[in-house]
Amino acid sequence: ARLVVLVSGSGTNLQALLDAAADKSYGAEVVAVGADRHGIEGLARAERAGVPTFVERLSDHPDRASWDEAIAARIAAYEPSIVVCAGFMKILGAPTLDAFPVVNTHPALLPAFPGAHGVRDALAYGVRVTGCTVMFADAGVDTGPIIAQEPVRVHEGDDEQTLHERIKTVERVLLVETVGRMAREGWTVTGRHVRLGR
Ligand code: GRF
Repeated sequence: ARLVVLVSGSGTNLQALLDAAADKSYGAEVVAVGADRHGIEGLARAERAGVPTFVERLSDHPDRASWDEAIAARIAAYEPSIVVCAGFMKILGAPTLDAFPVVNTHPALLPAFPGAHGVRDALAYGVRVTGCTVMFADAGVDTGPIIAQEPVRVHEGDDEQTLHERIKTVERVLLVETVGRMAREGWTVTGRHVRLGR
């Protein structure tokens, strides 16, 4: 399977996919890495791995629709079988969502704590258990059908950074395992229910 991975930040989830894809038995390769901004570690990780990169900034476009069309075209150029959002901080529009399966990862147990501050919101709420979710992206914010989840305990004295780091150690394993199974075994979606495997 051909993966295009979209990033906006440090790219530790991307790095886990790059490391897994180095083993041919994984069944998927990262054919390109896209971002919505320049100068992020995620792009540097792709360059170090010799993977082509592209950047589409919203600010370079007259409106959202133009950006949506542009990023869909950049992704399509690499003919992906799966698009993976790994810390990508934009909502993808119909030009991308209608063309490819888009898998996203979120550092909370959806439907709890969606959005850009899932870790902070869980901590503020006082939950004892949070976690991470791998799901399909849809037109909403973290509302797509859930594919996989893993719980992560909140420790006394956790702050947003310590909790997010603990979640990310679990999240990158869940993302690699889930994307690998999708690539090797396929999946079916019935309503909101996703089943991996043939
Ligand atoms: C991940 O926890 C992702 O779910 C969230 O932000 C983090 C990105 O981390 N949106 P990285 O860029 O993969 O290191």
